[in-house]
Amino acid sequence: MASVSRHAHWESVYRTKRPDEVSWYQSEPGISLDLIRATGEGPSARVLDVGGGASVLVDRLLEAGFEHIGVMDIAPAALSASRDRLGPRSDAVEWVEADVLEYRANEPWDIWHDRAVFHFLVDPEDRARYRASLYEAVAPGGHVIVATFGPEGPTRCSGLDTLRCSADEIAAALGDGVTLVESRTEVHRTPSGADQQFVYARLLRVDPTG
Ligand SMILES: C[S@@+](CC[C@H](N)C(=O)[O-])C[C@H]1O[C@@H](n2cnc3c(N)ncnc32)[C@H](O)[C@@H]1O
Repeated sequence: MASVSRHAHWESVYRTKRPDEVSWYQSEPGISLDLIRATGEGPSARVLDVGGGASVLVDRLLEAGFEHIGVMDIAPAALSASRDRLGPRSDAVEWVEADVLEYRANEPWDIWHDRAVFHFLVDPEDRARYRASLYEAVAPGGHVIVATFGPEGPTRCSGLDTLRCSADEIAAALGDGVTLVESRTEVHRTPSGADQQFVYARLLRVDPTG
């Protein structure tokens, strides 16, 4: 899908639905927080929530004392929803309106978190572009957390085709610049009561030549 239609698609989702109506809504991003804690990084770490949408992960990271949080999304309406929810606390966050496939970080991030963005990249060329953005944004030694639909997850979401991945498949798709550390499986209950299998992979960014 071209960047302009990706933008139009997601912007229209957030303009027509409340944050707690979308199928991926979570009142608590429990596994994401566990895996961020498991990296061993403290509150001074730079954490980027890629395709963060209107997730409350940023709220929980602020409450945990993280001082350098970025939320990136292709849909400005999603970022506005989070900024409005946070009020003045939103000033402490870096809000990045960008397509992850074209994103280039100004400064490296220590933790890259993506829940439910990578699985929309059904085109191998898009996955290669995602990998290039990730490798530029996170230096070897940094941490990568990617959650996708699992092998028994849905084949479509928000009207778009999706990938279904095991943790090993996530690691393989992200290439030899990462190595898998651990994984978790979750059954996510959507607001309308459907169950969706998610797989979370925590990976370490490594130097493939090192
Ligand atoms: C399924 S939602 C998940 C939102 C959030 N991560 C969560 O767990 O609640 C996918 C999010 O990724 C954003 N997105 C989709 N494609 C993107 C892209 N190419 N670059 C940046 N954000 C993207 C969408 O706008 C949407 O907010």
